[in-house]
Amino acid sequence: MLEVTGLKKHFPLERSFLDRLRGKKEAGSVHAVDNVSFWVRRGEILGLVGESGSGKTTTARLITLLERPDSGSVQFEGKDIYGLSPDDLKNFRRHVQLVFQNPYDSLDPKFTIFESLEEPLLTHSVGRTKDERREMVHQTMKKVGVPMEALNLYPSKLSGGQRQRIALARAFALEPKLLIADEPVSMLDSSIRASILNMLLDLRAQGATSVILITHDIATARHVCDRICVMYMGEVVEFAMADELVTNPLHPYTHALLSATPRLDPDARVTVELTGEIGSAADPPAACRLHPRCPHAYERCRVEEPVLREILPGHYVACHRSEEVFFPKLTGT
Ligand SMILES: Nc1ncnc2c1ncn2[C@@H]1O[C@H](COP(=O)(O)OP(=O)(O)OP(=O)(O)O)[C@@H](O)[C@H]1O
Ligand SMILES: [Mg+2]
Repeated sequence: MLEVTGLKKHFPLERSFLDRLRGKKEAGSVHAVDNVSFWVRRGEILGLVGESGSGKTTTARLITLLERPDSGSVQFEGKDIYGLSPDDLKNFRRHVQLVFQNPYDSLDPKFTIFESLEEPLLTHSVGRTKDERREMVHQTMKKVGVPMEALNLYPSKLSGGQRQRIALARAFALEPKLLIADEPVSMLDSSIRASILNMLLDLRAQGATSVILITHDIATARHVCDRICVMYMGEVVEFAMADELVTNPLHPYTHALLSATPRLDPDARVTVELTGEIGSAADPPAACRLHPRCPHAYERCRVEEPVLREILPGHYVACHRSEEVFFPKLTGT
């Protein structure tokens, strides 16, 4: 359904006062997304996981045409999204929906909930009459479990959890082929989080919608996703089926993420603790970006950037030492 290949987006850094004094012409750039490749199958939930600044939102913005890449391609149903004809573009905008992290930003405060839900239907000419659209809005409200009385209210009168349900309902009302949810629950109470994530699973089960779920929490991704793509400093470091990735992680960074997740069984894996500061994605050297923090780094990691390799069937890892470090421990030798 969606194929992302070699996607790259660098943001130029502002020159500082010192840079200008020293006559530096350029201040370099942040490698927000660097050579990112992954794909999403029809009907699956793909988790995009990584800590703050790893390039998750930039990737989502590139896939939804809010940002243009420096290079690389994104194919949606076999067509390059950056070269779509006006008709295909309209179709793309209807079928690829993005929901943001903050439920307070995602709804227009001047619109009632009914108006907010009807607006995308009008924009995309879904439902011929007002009655037909009203019926569709009612069906959507039932699906997301927000009482009908809320329809005439403004977003300010709803709770954060209700707003995020409405924001998701708004995206789902168009029966998109792909929904991208950027940290949809990170600003909500833990009690509401589970119900929103379950709602996402229910909505997905009702149709053929694929979902990209962006989260920094690998435990959430494991619970909800079919496959997981782990990002670190603008790069994909590991990409595999969710269960496979969690029970058999082959990248030190994924190990560290799992070590920091107390809900998972500590005996099931080798514990890797990262040391040192998180580096900067500004002008990184040709090296593994994790090497200053990685307990397994050796000389090659400092001079050669590892590429994503298929180490086991369907299990991709970008690390020079995966087999050496993690394979013997897996087989217990
Ligand atoms: N418009 C921009 N101009 C300059 N730098 C940017 C811009 N957008 C993102 N960046 C930088 O790109 C890097 C990746 O940012 P991004 O927002 O994609 O990360 P993220 O994984 O979504 O993080 P978070 O979990 O905090 O949302 C960061 O270093 C960020 O500062
Ligand atoms: Mg983000």
